[in-house]
Amino acid sequence: MARCQAAAPRSMVQTTMVIYEIQSDIEAIEKDAALYDEANFSGRVEAIDYIEFNVIDRIEGLLQLTHPPAELISLELYAKSVKRHLEAIDDALFQRLRADIRAGGCTGAALRDLIDEYVGRGSGSSAEDEIGYDSLDVFINGLLRIQAVPIETKAREPEMVYYQPTPARIIFELVEKARLTREDVFYDLGSGLGHVPIVVNLLSGAPAKGVEYEPVYCDIARVCAAELNLSHVEFINLDARTADYSEGTVFFMYTPFEGGVLQEVLEKLRGESRRRKIRLFTYGPCTPHVSRQRWLTHMGQHRDHIYKLGAFSSL
Ligand SMILES: C[S@@+](CC[C@H](N)C(=O)[O-])C[C@H]1O[C@@H](n2cnc3c(N)ncnc32)[C@H](O)[C@@H]1O
Repeated sequence: MARCQAAAPRSMVQTTMVIYEIQSDIEAIEKDAALYDEANFSGRVEAIDYIEFNVIDRIEGLLQLTHPPAELISLELYAKSVKRHLEAIDDALFQRLRADIRAGGCTGAALRDLIDEYVGRGSGSSAEDEIGYDSLDVFINGLLRIQAVPIETKAREPEMVYYQPTPARIIFELVEKARLTREDVFYDLGSGLGHVPIVVNLLSGAPAKGVEYEPVYCDIARVCAAELNLSHVEFINLDARTADYSEGTVFFMYTPFEGGVLQEVLEKLRGESRRRKIRLFTYGPCTPHVSRQRWLTHMGQHRDHIYKLGAFSSL
């Protein structure tokens, strides 16, 4: 018997071992009672990721072998059903939260507390010096039902930056630092699919507007806000150089443009600052450029750090 095993092709032995390992991994996840606790959102994010990348991807790799073992098919179905089961817990959670929000509940401190309990702050993020997304982003994407980014329909000018979402932990930090009230009017310049104004409004109650050049992004953001019944969130489909900021008190930019376009928009904000004090928060490579504006003063520690929230106030 031992001889027979030793004679088996090395790759077959290895394949059998890998199949055994995969089977044990799925069983361990399936039997982990903690993952079925609704509040253990971060645990589920990790488990779902593991199934996707360490189990299903591996099975699919093995299925490419010339003679793949037959049990791989049933193993893949098993893995997918465990994953679906975990995802169903999150779907039910988001459905309930969305219904609460639509009815005017679960916003502000209540929503923040729930997220603290379910996700934790900055969980899973090693992203001190890079963009980095974590389970908070997975939560926000699920809550807002943010899907894949659609293809742009309008050609961008070279200084206009393509869509990339602000990490959710930065939006939370912005809300915390800006201490927005209902008297403020918040603007996200280059608002993409709209999650910054929506999350800012959900957490702070302040009216929030997004200005976005790409019409399809703007449409998606409007649907998202309407589905949650957020009447104080508005999306304006315009080039940020031409929008009206006369109501704005707090502005945010995740590097939506560079060079001359950025300077032109900053000049518009400077014009607004002559009428009232405004604050500007930034993220990404636009921060060092903003920090050189003489009409702005820097608030906080990270003057030029491109992956920390930049905070400025007009003089
Ligand atoms: C880096 S993304 C930031 C998206 C969004 N603020 C967020 O964090 O989720 C930059 C966005 O700015 C938009 N954009 C670029 N140039 C613009 C302009 N001149 N006016 C308005 N939006 C612009 C892009 O279409 C893109 O959606």
